[in-house]
Amino acid sequence: MTIHQITILGTGNLGSRIGLQAAISGYSVVFYDLNEAAFHRSHEVLQKITKHLIKAEKLNEADTAAIFGRMAFTTDAAEAAQQADLISESVTEELVIKQKVWEQFGKICPAHTIFTTNTSYLLPSQLASYSGRPERFCAFHFHDVFHARVVDIMPHPGTDSALIPVLEELGVRLNQVPVVLKKESPGYVFNSMLMALLGAAGRLKTKDIADIADIDKSWMVNFNMPVGPFGILDNIGLDTAWHVVRTRNDEASIAFAALLKSYIDQGKLGEKTGEGFYKYPRNKQG
Ligand SMILES: NC(=O)c1ccc[n+]([C@@H]2O[C@H](COP(=O)([O-])OP(=O)(O)OC[C@H]3O[C@@H](n4cnc5c(N)ncnc54)[C@H](O)[C@@H]3O)[C@@H](O)[C@H]2O)c1
Repeated sequence: MTIHQITILGTGNLGSRIGLQAAISGYSVVFYDLNEAAFHRSHEVLQKITKHLIKAEKLNEADTAAIFGRMAFTTDAAEAAQQADLISESVTEELVIKQKVWEQFGKICPAHTIFTTNTSYLLPSQLASYSGRPERFCAFHFHDVFHARVVDIMPHPGTDSALIPVLEELGVRLNQVPVVLKKESPGYVFNSMLMALLGAAGRLKTKDIADIADIDKSWMVNFNMPVGPFGILDNIGLDTAWHVVRTRNDEASIAFAALLKSYIDQGKLGEKTGEGFYKYPRNKQG
């Protein structure tokens, strides 16, 4: 199971990051998305992170031409699939969208391709059968790739156990720290704990107990953290968070989803649009 080419499905916030790290680690990377506008946004993410890495002396400027030379972008699914040794899927966090994408790529990938999803809260068993090859399917879930470097490896009951060491080795080559889950669980390990924090912050705001800045301040000051729960939501993307929260139907989650939606409707999706609960860069915070 030697991996040469990694194909990224969905070149948004996370797909771009995973693809960049894969190219830095020496893999050929094919980025697939629905349209050129997505690639335009992806290029902005790639350039921004590359600049940060060079500034932090984690990347040598002289290597960037070779890194970008290992990347290709296409809206042609057949082209994206034809030489994929591994698929890393990061399309929109919607069950039906992901199921359709897996149905599409399961039919056109070579027999040896390993299928992975980067879903935050769905389960691989909700997607695996759509690929037509559930034994080749496993969740391989990144956090932000460059700062938060845990990668969760979460098989579903039908995953071939031989995939686990392959993904562990790949995780290490991608400069991540692999965490293997013994069974499926929504939100993996870290996100399960994170949801409890974000849900509590949402409740404090929607019940009008404290303002966003004070809720964040409580977390940041006591734990000496650079961001609080609402800053974390801005980083995740309010649309991505909303897709998760709106699937829950308890009273607190419904109120929290409505709060997120009120920002989304104004085009405030978080850091990626320059404004969410805060304005970015943070020194312009208003
Ligand atoms: N944002 C985070 O912090 C984070 C962290 C870990 C995992 N994830 C997961 O990664 C995935 C992507 O999240 P994101 O924040 O990058 O979202 P995003 O909205 O930034 O990007 C999603 C991309 O998927 C593309 N897409 C939608 N339908 C498609 C299709 N049918 N075929 C190809 N591309 C399609 C969109 O055009 C978009 O470019 C989600 O499953 C999310 O849960 C996100």
